[in-house]
Amino acid sequence: MYLKAISIQNYRNLEPVSMALGQGFWAVLGENGQGKSNLLEAVSVLCMGRSRKADRDRDLVRFGESFMRLEGRFSREQRGDLESVVRVSEEGKELLLFGSAVTRLAKFIGEASCVLFNSNDVEMVLGEPSGHRLFLNEALGQVNQAYLFDLGRCRRALEQKNRALKDVRKGYAPASSIGIWDTQLSQHGGRVCARRDAFLRRLGDEAARLYTRLSGGAEELETRYAPSAGMPDDPQRWTEQIAERIAERKQDEILRGIALVGPQRDDFTMTLDGADVRSFASRGQARTAALALRLAQCRIAFEDTGEWPIVLLDDVFAELDVSRRQLVAELAGEAQQVFASSASESDLPSEMQPAARVIRVCRGSIAIEENAGAVQA
Ligand SMILES: Nc1ncnc2c1ncn2[C@@H]1O[C@H](COP(=O)(O)OP(=O)(O)O)[C@@H](O)[C@H]1O
Ligand SMILES: [Mg+2]
Repeated sequence: MYLKAISIQNYRNLEPVSMALGQGFWAVLGENGQGKSNLLEAVSVLCMGRSRKADRDRDLVRFGESFMRLEGRFSREQRGDLESVVRVSEEGKELLLFGSAVTRLAKFIGEASCVLFNSNDVEMVLGEPSGHRLFLNEALGQVNQAYLFDLGRCRRALEQKNRALKDVRKGYAPASSIGIWDTQLSQHGGRVCARRDAFLRRLGDEAARLYTRLSGGAEELETRYAPSAGMPDDPQRWTEQIAERIAERKQDEILRGIALVGPQRDDFTMTLDGADVRSFASRGQARTAALALRLAQCRIAFEDTGEWPIVLLDDVFAELDVSRRQLVAELAGEAQQVFASSASESDLPSEMQPAARVIRVCRGSIAIEENAGAVQA
């Protein structure tokens, strides 16, 4: 899959631009603070319908403006071309596919797909379970719409359950009023957990292979699902597992007025030769683990959809040594289209440089450079 054309209006610090793009490798160059990350983020918002970084959609609108609009035309091998629009204004967010409004984010996600790599991935690997869940939801949601629907049902059941727990704690309602939400949470949660389990097994295997290549076989990376309800003995019994664990924690939940078991508390762990990455990995090892995870995400998306997502490498090369740059370029280069940003052209892997077309970003204005040897789309 690749982005054929993009049009940007009032997006963060970017000047309005419409440009035709093509397959292959795009170098996004410019000094720091010019808008390179914003451009890559804009591409990701066109695919995911939201930004991983922005807490509120409103933050994507250029300061002082009342709306932003992104429009993209994608070429897809499997499902034909796609036109999508993301618009954020004071009235909220609008998502359009082929000009028709899509009311649910879950129906927008997965139509066009990308994987954004950036330096926050290291923080994700080393950080809180919430970051791991975000990664999981993004990676799995992009290839599995049913997962997103179940996740939404879980979220709604959880909100109701937490409300009910508070009421019970205050003595406004009997403990039995929680039961219906426990049932829903276990049923929808059971499906969420089963999918996470299956996905993480595949992702973990792929990430382990990639880590071995990226590290030259230094250590063995293992990625394991750590569900808050624990692993059931039988993979068919996720719902029962969650229900049983909720029942065990019932008094605690009422006492604290909050649900303590369910997909909303899941995590996954990563270890290198058995040592927990969060506690023991060096910065370099964590960076390599993060790269392996993101590359594994790309490969699984390819396996599941028959199409490589657009690869967005936001400033990842500067932190890597030369041989690793080359390897990441090679692995990511399987995609139909790669955007790689950097403040310095020399950080880009040498094999990519001659083939690359250059997008220059300067104080928010974006221009495609006609460099020698470039093949225009
Ligand atoms: N909503 C916004 N409106 C205007 N400018 C913004 C907005 N959000 C971020 N910026 C600006 O974008 C610039 C950072 O751009 P960024 O893409 O991160 O640069 P870099 O080229 O270093 O990747 C900052 O100067 C920041 O103030
Ligand atoms: Mg940046």
